[in-house]
Amino acid sequence: MSDFHTRKRICVLPGDGIGIEVMNAALPVLQALNLPFDLEFGDIGWECWKREGNTVPDETWKKISDCDATLLGAITSKPLAETEAELPPHLQGQNRRYVSPVIQLRQNLDLYANVRPVTDMTGENRFRFVVIRENTEGLYAGLDFGRIPDAFLPLLEEREALGAPWHRDGQEDATISVRLQTRSGLERIFEYAFEYAANQGFERVTFVDKPMVLRHSSAFARRVFEGVAQRYPGIEGVIENVDAVALWMVQRPERFSVVVAENMFGDILSDLGAGVMGGLGFAPSGNFGKLGAYFEPVHGSAPAHAGLNKANPSAMFMAIALMLEHLGYPQEARYVTAAVSRVSRSTVRTYDMGGSHTTAQVGEAIIGECVSMAALTSTERPISNSHLGATHVEAL
Ligand code: NAI
Ligand code: MG
Repeated sequence: MSDFHTRKRICVLPGDGIGIEVMNAALPVLQALNLPFDLEFGDIGWECWKREGNTVPDETWKKISDCDATLLGAITSKPLAETEAELPPHLQGQNRRYVSPVIQLRQNLDLYANVRPVTDMTGENRFRFVVIRENTEGLYAGLDFGRIPDAFLPLLEEREALGAPWHRDGQEDATISVRLQTRSGLERIFEYAFEYAANQGFERVTFVDKPMVLRHSSAFARRVFEGVAQRYPGIEGVIENVDAVALWMVQRPERFSVVVAENMFGDILSDLGAGVMGGLGFAPSGNFGKLGAYFEPVHGSAPAHAGLNKANPSAMFMAIALMLEHLGYPQEARYVTAAVSRVSRSTVRTYDMGGSHTTAQVGEAIIGECVSMAALTSTERPISNSHLGATHVEAL
């Protein structure tokens, strides 16, 4: 092992639902590759809410801040009406506000960049791109109102004077949501996108927006984008319409390299990217900021499948690969990604891929592939074979 690699601490938060199963299936890959990691397990999510009225207990925050990276399984969130009813009696009636733990992580650690690589799982390398979504402002800034607040009335009256009436329905029967963009918020996400392109060998950054409709905010964002782009002369910066990008992402995914967008556009395009790579069973995401980084599969807790040992663990493995890259193990990250791709093309498949193998069997097969790849190339480090999968992988 190289001397400059010190031991790393990973905070592991399996969460609930299929989060627990995919984590159990994927986590042994760290030990199988003999990575010098210490794992700290913590609680998060719905069970914590039901127990103590808090989805992220203080102890968990401490573990997150003590560790080099956090790995998350999945977390169930429920509608507001149910959150109060499921609190223990002594915590009811105190106006406790349920805030999704995922949102708490992003806000408290100021994780402004949500990064979702889209990899061709067929092994043919037909496309390779990444969607980088701004995580802290934009249309999801939280300025979302179930009625029209008084403060907005003068603006609506001004709009009406220009010939666009609104108040046929009155303040109580209309809603308003605001897209907040700040210079510093935009600058840091664009810088992140260009740095990512430079580090990963991409030649273009596409900023996705809606400049002909959201004219003023888009013009502002454009100026900031162009200012950042100037500092990266080797990388082309282009601006495209969100609707056109959605079309092309499906029809010609090879057109894209680094795609960067505000919160809502990025949210939608990153799920579209998950579809392009073969579904929720495969898509990982990393969330980055100055105060930390966490990694998770894009999918949620899929309550209908929880406890059945049938969910696809591939996305969890891909999230681990992102974490390995972040922590300075790009070689091991490539083994994991290649192993997921190989097993997805083998006969060892979960139900979503038309197979009938269990979460654990697919996990073992992926780990087995990783270990064989590492053994073929490694001369420095003994590779453990105690995790070699019992499941035989046969190419289709
Ligand atoms: P979901 O991603 O949990 O499931 C949607 C559907 O996708 C499932 O019914 C299943 O058919 C399929 N699916 C998802 N992951 C799969 C896997 N690994 N293997 C095979 N099939 C898979 O999204 P849904 O149903 O909208 O949300 C369920 C719960 O998860 C909710 O409480 C939601 O709030 C939460 N959620 C949590 C997220 C997180 O932890 N970051 C992200 C998205 C949803
Ligand atoms: Mg989403």
